[in-house]
Amino acid sequence: MLPKIITELPGPKTRAIIEKDQRYMSPSYTRDYPFVIAHGDGAIATDPDGNAFLDFSAGIAVCATGHSHPEVVKAMHEQAGKFLHMSGTDFYYEIQVVLAERLARLAPIEGKKKVFFTNSGAEAVEAAFKLARYHTGRTQLIAFLGAFHGRTMGALSLTASKVVQKRGFYPLVPGVVHVPYANCYRCRYNLVYGSCDMACLKFLSESVFTRTIDPENVAAIFVEPIQGEGGYIVPPKEFLQGLRDLCSRHGILLVADEVQSGMGRTGKMFASEHFELMPDIICMAKGIASGMPLGAIIASENTMNWVYGSHASTFGGNPVCCAAALKTLDLVESQLMANAAKIGEHLKSRLQGLADKYECVGNVRGMGLMIGMEIVTDKKTNNPNPELRDKILTGCFKRGLLILGCGPNSVRFAPPLIITKEQADFSVDCIDSAIGELVST
Ligand SMILES: Cc1ncc(COP(=O)(O)O)c(C=O)c1O
Repeated sequence: MLPKIITELPGPKTRAIIEKDQRYMSPSYTRDYPFVIAHGDGAIATDPDGNAFLDFSAGIAVCATGHSHPEVVKAMHEQAGKFLHMSGTDFYYEIQVVLAERLARLAPIEGKKKVFFTNSGAEAVEAAFKLARYHTGRTQLIAFLGAFHGRTMGALSLTASKVVQKRGFYPLVPGVVHVPYANCYRCRYNLVYGSCDMACLKFLSESVFTRTIDPENVAAIFVEPIQGEGGYIVPPKEFLQGLRDLCSRHGILLVADEVQSGMGRTGKMFASEHFELMPDIICMAKGIASGMPLGAIIASENTMNWVYGSHASTFGGNPVCCAAALKTLDLVESQLMANAAKIGEHLKSRLQGLADKYECVGNVRGMGLMIGMEIVTDKKTNNPNPELRDKILTGCFKRGLLILGCGPNSVRFAPPLIITKEQADFSVDCIDSAIGELVST
């Protein structure tokens, strides 16, 4: 299916909802253009005026199986008819254990594993933060510039994405130090990958760990194997492997935040697998339950050694969410992960064509259906062009494509993992036409 726009945008019914939203909803939300969903079907999201859009945002990389996948809805219905909630904190139920067993089997972590369920990505990060301090008895944490780990106090303390996310909320949780991520397109040291001697890693091992923090006081390093909100940045394998080595050497836990990159989006279940990375703790959420609020951390039995009562959540691991997650896993494992790899490769090569065509398309990178396209002023300076990026997003919206930005100046391709080649091609034609209207080649 492809989009169909039948009214002016936004249409009258859409406008009425947005007006009410402005009256009653918190002004902190970040809406880039006026899209209201009335119903969704696969990769198509339709507004109240009947305009059908191709959804390349998937509810911010959440609806892995597309909108309201019939098998996911059926599994949820069946569970909803049995019981909606019991609280996995105080009682047992089978579906939660079955999901935990499945996630434990899949996670690239050594040894026997255990799972803690949450309701969101931030809560998963929060749980990993607490577990890291609890398990190691250490206080300090390392995270990366550009990282996004969520907006609750602990997760926000690890986040270093945009100042607006922190302004007015201090003091945050103490003990976090941010260091450069391996962004080879915009190397902080103005070096070139291959001859850089991994200067970003060395900064951590040779400067931070000798001048600012004793590594023996560090509980964990939090890293996104592919930086998400920061701009869909893919680091070299040596970077993640180097972090692993540093952690192992100093007894630090390596926490992979796979909230955005996990659940088959990159063509493997966990992005860590592309880098042969074995973390100590993995954080999951977003795509895990096709849109139902669920998150999880997975760690080895040895690492997850907190005691009775030390951490819990009333709603975490809700049975209807677990049913959605189990069906999502069936679909992702059997077909969608392979589709993400195949269509992602095609999409990336077509987007590379836009980079060859337009001076403003500076860089295309990603894995599977996690692809970023960086918009710049020109290829000589590679200066970020956030204004143009924003206009491109609006131009796509007018053409029936829902797509979001990430990082200061990148376009984020995070469609449902079910998309077809035809839909991928539509997105590229759409963005090509939106750019073509705004700039000369
Ligand atoms: C890598 C990563 N971690 C954590 C979060 C926070 O997740 P949530 O918005 O569900 O709290 C996000 C959200 O974008 C994310 O991308």
